[in-house]
Amino acid sequence: MIIAANLKTNLTREKTISYIQHVENFIEKNALLQEILVFPATSSLHLHNKKVKIGAQNAYHTYNGAFTGEIGYEQLEEFNIKTILIGHSERRHIMGETQESLVKKFNFYKELGFRIVYCVGEPLEVREAGHQHMMEYISKQYDGIDTAYDNLVIAYEPVWAIGTGLTPTLEDIVAIHKELKAKSKAPLLYGGSVKVTNVKEILALDGVDGVLVGSAALYAEHFCTMCQYAQELGK
Ligand code: 13P
Repeated sequence: MIIAANLKTNLTREKTISYIQHVENFIEKNALLQEILVFPATSSLHLHNKKVKIGAQNAYHTYNGAFTGEIGYEQLEEFNIKTILIGHSERRHIMGETQESLVKKFNFYKELGFRIVYCVGEPLEVREAGHQHMMEYISKQYDGIDTAYDNLVIAYEPVWAIGTGLTPTLEDIVAIHKELKAKSKAPLLYGGSVKVTNVKEILALDGVDGVLVGSAALYAEHFCTMCQYAQELGK
């Protein structure tokens, strides 16, 4: 399974380094075999060639150049970063990234062989408009994306479940994951208000290959507990 922490705009570089070291020690002590990804803030990226894979929350589709405020491949390469998050709802809805711009990023980092965690998910008003409308909305987020890319991971994150404490029912997660699995055979993570208290039942569901965790992952101990549960499930 894949257990991923999206640290968003949290933790300083110093705190991120000790966070990752904490997780690394836990992995070693407990002989964890899961794939563990951590996405720190851009300024906290650093070289770390151990078990935890550090990924970028964002990068522009360029090697370098005149793109003020962005980083490109050259800045990732410095830290041997080969994993990137693309399409997170905060990038789509707060930063206004379009499907077209996400596809450019996707293709650029795909050509470089990156592990791409590609996020999809619907806002509340879309969900409330009915299942068919919701699935059509999510389907559009697959437009232009190579769903057969062999280093792809997809994360289903309903926007209304992010940071709210709300989650779909377990039956809903199974049903949606089943439909999304028909679109791509890539490992499929669930994200949105995953916590120590609900992660076990979510990880155990059919069609769930891991989780992408925000707020609850900010506590290294909680994130480690989630990794431990994944190991115990032995999926
Ligand atoms: P929360 O776990 O805080 O709901 O965030 C989920 C998320 O956005 C992970 O990418």
